[in-house]
Amino acid sequence: MVSPEPRTGPEFWRDLKPIEKVFRKDAAPEIFLPDTLDDDERYFIPLSETVGSRPLWISLTQNRWADVLMATQAGLVNRHYHPHQVFGYTLSGRWSYLEHDWVATKGTFVYETPGEAHTLVAHESDEPMRVHFNVTGPLIWLDEDGEPEGTFDAYDYLELARDHYEKVGLGAAEVEKLLR
Ligand SMILES: [Fe+2]
Repeated sequence: MVSPEPRTGPEFWRDLKPIEKVFRKDAAPEIFLPDTLDDDERYFIPLSETVGSRPLWISLTQNRWADVLMATQAGLVNRHYHPHQVFGYTLSGRWSYLEHDWVATKGTFVYETPGEAHTLVAHESDEPMRVHFNVTGPLIWLDEDGEPEGTFDAYDYLELARDHYEKVGLGAAEVEKLLR
């Protein structure tokens, strides 16, 4: 059934009434980050010498996070294995995994099924590589033979983010805002 919505002016929804009961009693507020394409490097936690990660949302209870991964030149996130899923949406630049024959560019979406190991490389490009990732942890770092040599999960990410944000003067509270 089509509801009888008022249609006055181009933004026909202007006269609609917002829902009054927005949040359930125990629900946490949304996270609203108006400008995550800002290149202010202070927001990017170094994950390697060449690649930084700007946290957008961190969930310890789900061991999961969302970020913008950025490299301003050729870059590398060393080989690792994901026991859980990863979603990736490319905002700018060019990147790929050494293990696949595709190259992601602006608008490329990738879903990585649990059980994939890869080595992320940022290609040289006119624009920085920026990818919005939604990761369920942990990452299992792999040695040259593909054997596990360490882990990285939401707890490590949060700790690293806090330390980095303190160091660059943004303050740890900037990261804590992102916890849900
Ligand atoms: Fe990965």
